[in-house]
Amino acid sequence: MAQIPSRPVRESRTVITELMIPSYANFGGKIHGGILLSLMDKVAYACASRHAGSYCVTVSVDRVEFLQPVEVGELVSLMASVNYVGNSSMIVGIRVESQNVKTGEIKHTNSCFFTMVAKGEDNRPLTVPKLVLENSEDVKRFIEGMRLKDLRKQVRDQMDDIHTVKDFSGASELLRNERCILPANWNN
Ligand SMILES: CC(C)(COP(=O)(O)OP(=O)(O)OC[C@H]1O[C@@H](n2cnc3c(N)ncnc32)[C@H](O)[C@@H]1OP(=O)(O)O)[C@@H](O)C(=O)NCCC(=O)NCCS
Repeated sequence: MAQIPSRPVRESRTVITELMIPSYANFGGKIHGGILLSLMDKVAYACASRHAGSYCVTVSVDRVEFLQPVEVGELVSLMASVNYVGNSSMIVGIRVESQNVKTGEIKHTNSCFFTMVAKGEDNRPLTVPKLVLENSEDVKRFIEGMRLKDLRKQVRDQMDDIHTVKDFSGASELLRNERCILPANWNN
């Protein structure tokens, strides 16, 4: 079988910059979160497919938090790099910054992680090149990626537990300090 080449982080590093136009705004005049999510997905795809040399799909998204609003007229830059590779999966780290072109002020709006999987012509997961780590930052991010993968697995397992609640007895006590109103005929 042909040896899969390895590839350094810098070769797939990707930056997308986009002007925030009025049609991207919500009723409050700020940029829709969905517009930013779509841009994140695009930059994650570009970065992962460059590394893999193939088509990729988005599998999961972690730590998307909108820390500061983005205004119409600002320039949003999304910087992506492959932080970690498994066999067919890649964790792409994305930093999003928004720049006010008049003042030059740059806001860090969020940093997040997209897990992408490379696919072959047969639509099956495809082995991706090993990641060549060239400096301590690359090594640090790879180790963080390993930890994120482990943590995601633990959280996934625990999330499955959420749906195992079958017995609602004691709900009145459990929900006593919550901001909800139980059905009028609720009796336990
Ligand atoms: C994700 C997907 C490729 C997994 O396919 P599969 O046949 O179950 O393949 P595997 O179990 O071999 O998993 C392949 C890789 O995905 C990873 N993976 C699977 N499910 C995952 C999850 N929920 N979160 C993170 N990684 C996951 C596996 O760890 C594995 O990584 P590795 O090869 O680096 O070890 C498949 O479910 C899929 O195509 N999903 C749809 C993706 C899509 O269409 N996205 C667009 C958004 S709508």
